[in-house]
Amino acid sequence: MLIQNQSFLFDIPNDINYLNCSYMAPSLKSVSEAGEKAVRLKGTPWEIKAEDFFTSVSALKERFAKIISSKKGHIAIIPSVSYGIETAIKNIDLKETDTILLLKDQFPSNVYPWIEKAKSVGAKVTFLEKNEGTWTDTVLNALNPSVKVLALPNVHWTNGARLNLEKINKKRKEIGAYLILDLTQSCGALPFSVKNIDADFIVAAAYKWLLGPYSLSYLYVSEDFHNGKPLENNWINRKDSQNFSQLLNYKDEYQSGAERFDMGEKSNFISVAMANVALEQILNWGIEEISESLKILTNHIINLSNELNLKTLIKEEQSPHMTGITFENGVPNKLLADLKVNNFFISVRGNSIRVAPHLYNSRDQIDEFFSIIKKHL
Ligand SMILES: Cc1ncc(COP(=O)(O)O)c(C=O)c1O
Repeated sequence: MLIQNQSFLFDIPNDINYLNCSYMAPSLKSVSEAGEKAVRLKGTPWEIKAEDFFTSVSALKERFAKIISSKKGHIAIIPSVSYGIETAIKNIDLKETDTILLLKDQFPSNVYPWIEKAKSVGAKVTFLEKNEGTWTDTVLNALNPSVKVLALPNVHWTNGARLNLEKINKKRKEIGAYLILDLTQSCGALPFSVKNIDADFIVAAAYKWLLGPYSLSYLYVSEDFHNGKPLENNWINRKDSQNFSQLLNYKDEYQSGAERFDMGEKSNFISVAMANVALEQILNWGIEEISESLKILTNHIINLSNELNLKTLIKEEQSPHMTGITFENGVPNKLLADLKVNNFFISVRGNSIRVAPHLYNSRDQIDEFFSIIKKHL
């Protein structure tokens, strides 16, 4: 079912045309309210009970697990994507003859950790370049027995070009390579299930398509790594940490499942409260429904671009929630100034602009956006 415009749930002024969810989502009013309430809670710490360090985080994991068709026990709460990628790296053996595959211009949080790891063991990092065809074919063609890791997104963050992860997952298994995914630019807007794509580690920052706060991310860890090593040794990941009176009875064992990978101070009462409300709203809408509804806006953007002879993605690579629009001779400076004056918010990436709508955007806004673009061609 298509979702009607939901701008009434957000605090966006009428004269603001925010088409940049890929940069940072605006908070739902309900999310801001949950955050404000949680800020005030710290004024009365006697109301924060020992179990509160665990219950909200546990509910948050349950909600995120639903979003990717997983289970609570596979999810850890972490601060950032780079933290999740470092956690994966700490649990993967790499040697000199191994190759790590990344996409050209991939987001740095899924690049720097691999470069550093490769340097330390003498392994090779290959940045795949797409000249013709699709990213999916580029990845598939690069698979050979030396490839030990594929560290990929579901959509390229610069322009929304979509990879067929199901195909890639099947093929990578044939050569025994690990699949590590950064779903920050898709999770929450593009359906994804670990039942179809059983990656080893999956990470997603909360503050974009998951409509959550900054400095909070979700990490999925497959069962093969549930005995692995966390990035840090904090007290709350150790067995029986719920029993505050016994914390000095130091333990070698960890909590069960992926809980050992949780960050220190995972219980952040403010961000966890906000993230819970955000995911509840996303689950109420439904990811399929969000995706279908955004696709109508994104298709409108693509159609209007093509009418003006501006290049977008080929059909096979289009994503429902974001698209790059390429200006052959570069994005006109005057266009950017005009967009700014008219309160249109997008991102510029080289010769392209990246447009990323959400349920608070309307078809009328997109029409107005293109009437401005038209003036500068
Ligand atoms: C694809 C992608 N991954 C990750 C991030 C954020 O990474 P981190 O949480 O390490 O700051 C971004 C932010 O723009 C992104 O676009």
